[in-house]
Amino acid sequence: RTVYVNGDYLPETEAKVSIFDRGFLMADGVYEVTSVLDGKLIDFDGHAVRLQRSLDELDMKNPITKDDLLEVHRELVRLNGIEEGMIYLQITRGAPDDRDFAFPDPETVPCTVVLFTQNKPGLAANPVAQKGIKVISIEDIRWGRRDIKTVQLLYPSMGKMMAKAAGVDDAWMVQDGFVTEGTSNNAYIVKGGKIITRPKTNDILHGITRAAVLRFAEEAQMTVEERNFTIEEAQNADEAFITSASTFVMPVVEIDGAQIGDGKPGSVAPRLREIYLEESR
Ligand code: PDD
Repeated sequence: RTVYVNGDYLPETEAKVSIFDRGFLMADGVYEVTSVLDGKLIDFDGHAVRLQRSLDELDMKNPITKDDLLEVHRELVRLNGIEEGMIYLQITRGAPDDRDFAFPDPETVPCTVVLFTQNKPGLAANPVAQKGIKVISIEDIRWGRRDIKTVQLLYPSMGKMMAKAAGVDDAWMVQDGFVTEGTSNNAYIVKGGKIITRPKTNDILHGITRAAVLRFAEEAQMTVEERNFTIEEAQNADEAFITSASTFVMPVVEIDGAQIGDGKPGSVAPRLREIYLEESR
């Protein structure tokens, strides 16, 4: 695999980053995951805009222009022959001479930029979407700026492990009794034809797939209600689903052991998946 590190395209085995990089020492960095379908990037613009916002919120100086970033994405897709898959992009606050809590001077310590591809043949035709996934609920104990897409993913990883230990696919996180989001996706329920999802605040990541799916839903005359919901309300909903760049729209058929509807994907989530895959290509 060819990867990109600070301006160079290299075989993955030759790519190097300093042990003093603040991404490595302090999880001081941000990332984006963009999907590739038919060899083309899905919603690159949305990801580029969110990346810039994450960098701005953390006072990080963007070392690469949007046009150059697009070029790197396209070049990696080409070099690695990706038809279906993902591109991972990470920008960390670089490597000062020593470990120090204070941010280094961005003029002398440039950010580290790393990109690599993940080949996922069959991503769009994922058979899991036919039967849906099962989730458990866990307490959301992440920091308070989940709108910034940082590389601090330890708790979401632990959530995935808790889900695995419970024999299910993912975890929905709950704060003050209300669902925030999945470990790496946004969460939705459907009741009486209405699509309900948590509003965009600092409590959740403002998903790029979320924005597209809500727009497509409204264009298809579906009603969208942005409000908090509980696990109990979700268990009694007609349908539930998640969205993300890697799962697109994925039905959820069980929450904490309680079946949603008849335990099979309903009509809204599969339809939204179809619309999303058609319209975003
Ligand atoms: N995760 N919420 C969280 C906590 C996420 O990590 C993600 C994305 C989303 C969905 O955002 P988007 O639609 O822009 O992908 C919501 C990526 C896919 C990941 O970490 O792999």
